[in-house]
Amino acid sequence: MARILVTGALGQIGSELVPALRAQFGSESVVATDIRRPSANGGLGAGPFEHLDCTSIRQVQEMVRRFDVGGIYHLASLLSAVAEEKPQAAWELNMGGLYRVLEVARQYGCALFFPSSIGAFGPTTPRQGTPQDTIQRPTTMYGVAKVASELLCDYYALRLGVDARGLRLPGLISHTAPPGGGTTDYAVDIFYQAIRYGHYTCFLRPDARLDMMYMPDAIRAMIELMAADPGRLRHRNAFNVTAMSFTPEELAAEIRRHIPEFRIDYDVDPVRQAIADSWPQSIDDGAARAEWGWAPAYDLAATTTDMLDKLGGKLNATT
Ligand code: SER
Repeated sequence: MARILVTGALGQIGSELVPALRAQFGSESVVATDIRRPSANGGLGAGPFEHLDCTSIRQVQEMVRRFDVGGIYHLASLLSAVAEEKPQAAWELNMGGLYRVLEVARQYGCALFFPSSIGAFGPTTPRQGTPQDTIQRPTTMYGVAKVASELLCDYYALRLGVDARGLRLPGLISHTAPPGGGTTDYAVDIFYQAIRYGHYTCFLRPDARLDMMYMPDAIRAMIELMAADPGRLRHRNAFNVTAMSFTPEELAAEIRRHIPEFRIDYDVDPVRQAIADSWPQSIDDGAARAEWGWAPAYDLAATTTDMLDKLGGKLNATT
């Protein structure tokens, strides 16, 4: 069987997608790659790990040839807040990396998964019930690259025959990789701080409402989309998906149901607040539900219970 290549395997999504793919398809069938080196207990499980700079087309070609790759999950990218600090580097990696990986997918007949984001929307997009097909004029470098990436994936699918598929993911909540420079990362960091200190200072306003999803749902969505019957897919790329929508103060209240003494205060970062203000508050994922049967399993209560349980176990084991 042709192997699956994952770029950005040590990032927030990759560190959970790789073990899930390996559990389903076998350890040797999944080639994990990243520009960083894994730590000794990297957590990706048994199976090949390779160093890969996906802005080098030669390196991507070599990897695809060497491992007889048939499908690529292209996850390597900078998140929104980091991309605002380093817009040139973000364009080079987020756009340049995708372009080269799409080219190699075309040359070698690989399928490709691309994670777009709620960041692909902007201040002129309807913020409630954000439709699948709507205005996309983002004002961040992260968003500009995501919209261009969605269009490039569509182009490669329609005109160049690449089986490119993708999701617009909301903020992802997870306990494996530490928070890494996203605007929605407050919803990850808050759990670490709640367990360690019973207190969190939030960089978004108490009423900053954003779409979110627990990582097990996101991983399942990615794998299910790539396995979906292409005959049913009217859209291929950039499916809106969501599981819940909440504000920092609502999340804090949910955590307080488990840790009654938990306290939150606010020191708003204007850059990240402006990014959040330009994103939807609740997106409509009807197309994903209709075209490939998307349905989330974790709401806010279930996510909070599982996060506190899993992260609590992990932090206790390391202290
Ligand atoms: N979670 C991402 C971020 O905040 C959005 O896709 O950057």
